[in-house]
Amino acid sequence: MTILITGGAGFIGSHVIRLFVEKYPNYNIFNVDALTYAGNLENLNDIESKSNYKFVKGDITDEFFINELFKKHRFDCVIHLAAESHVDRSIQDPLAFVRTNVIGTMILLNAFKNTWKDNFESKLFYHISTDEVYGSLGQTGLFKESTAYDPNSPYSASKASSDHFVRAYGETYGLPYVITNCSNNYGQNQFPEKLIPLFINNIINNKPLPVYGDGNYTRDWLYVIDHARAIDLVFHKGTLGETYNIGGFNEWKNIDLVKLLCKQMDYKLDKPEGTSRKLITYVKDRPGHDLRYAIDASKINKELGWKPSVTFEEGLFLTIDWYLNNENWLKNITTGEYQTYYQKQYN
Ligand code: NAD
Ligand code: DAU
Repeated sequence: MTILITGGAGFIGSHVIRLFVEKYPNYNIFNVDALTYAGNLENLNDIESKSNYKFVKGDITDEFFINELFKKHRFDCVIHLAAESHVDRSIQDPLAFVRTNVIGTMILLNAFKNTWKDNFESKLFYHISTDEVYGSLGQTGLFKESTAYDPNSPYSASKASSDHFVRAYGETYGLPYVITNCSNNYGQNQFPEKLIPLFINNIINNKPLPVYGDGNYTRDWLYVIDHARAIDLVFHKGTLGETYNIGGFNEWKNIDLVKLLCKQMDYKLDKPEGTSRKLITYVKDRPGHDLRYAIDASKINKELGWKPSVTFEEGLFLTIDWYLNNENWLKNITTGEYQTYYQKQYN
């Protein structure tokens, strides 16, 4: 089986590539990634020389490049993760999200459809999506697979649009697909624009921790390796044409999460408890900030037997350890473009 994984140099993609390359030596795995600011081949140092793995630098919005690649390798399956993934950047530059998340997905769908025409037997297009397509919950309730789409940010609108196109290709052309909608991931190799790695990096550098609004926003956090395990399961055992929600059964208000993170960082850095907390600074809220996300992951649990393998406290501990042991990784990506983005976003 020849599999195309897009966005494999990013945060979640690199964990999926590692899992597949190590677990399935008989699969030929191609990683196509444009290496945007978020893509980093350092994430894959340990597996880059494996014989069942090949990296190809390229942009999914480049139709000629994608078509030629499909002609050459005739990918049996696609696991599509490449995306612009940060909500705040989607507020600064929404069109970039339409290009990659909507048009890039369309170009992949067309290439896949044109490669296999009507003979889709044992083929699969697996689209990785987000719980943000469902919009915002109030204080109660959970997102189910049947929850109506109601995206609020340019990021979530672009992901919702790509989900719709994948389903439309399934209905119209019989293209075999599965979609998963996952909650907030955290773990090693996450770019420090997202809450947890940004705050870890700022604590290391004794910089303010910018909590948006009153900090009473809720997210459902999942350790990235548990997401990769879920993707492996759905890829092999998921039912075609179905959607599976993936979540951590793990809701946290931002401010409570930040306090826990500060406590664990003080412990790891051997500082008196309360030191990092003093860095908490309430800042202007994110426009259109969704109040609460929480996933009902009972379908994937009941049908495929998946559940998270680590508690949040354990996962956070492992994550902090990784960042403290990989300060060079952090330093290499927090120069240049990162500084420009940071100034624009937080000053
Ligand atoms: P990320 O930003 O860390 O990585 C995205 C990767 O895609 C990068 O390697 C980047 O170089 C690549 N990429 C971007 N534009 C590209 C293009 N035009 N052509 C080729 N490659 C391109 O993202 P992530 O957090 O790992 O998210 C991966 C996927 O999972 C996304 O589709 C995202 O919507 C989804 N998702 C993320 C989360 C989360 O919490 N991070 C949760 C649920 C779903
Ligand atoms: O729910 C899944 C989604 O989770 C993914 O689809 C996205 O790709 C991923 O980025 C994430 O989106 P969020 O917007 O929820 O994640 P982020 O880490 O940006 O923010 C988490 C919460 O923390 C959110 O309520 C905003 C808040 N926040 C974030 C940052 C970066 C702050 O208070 N301060 C910050 O500086």
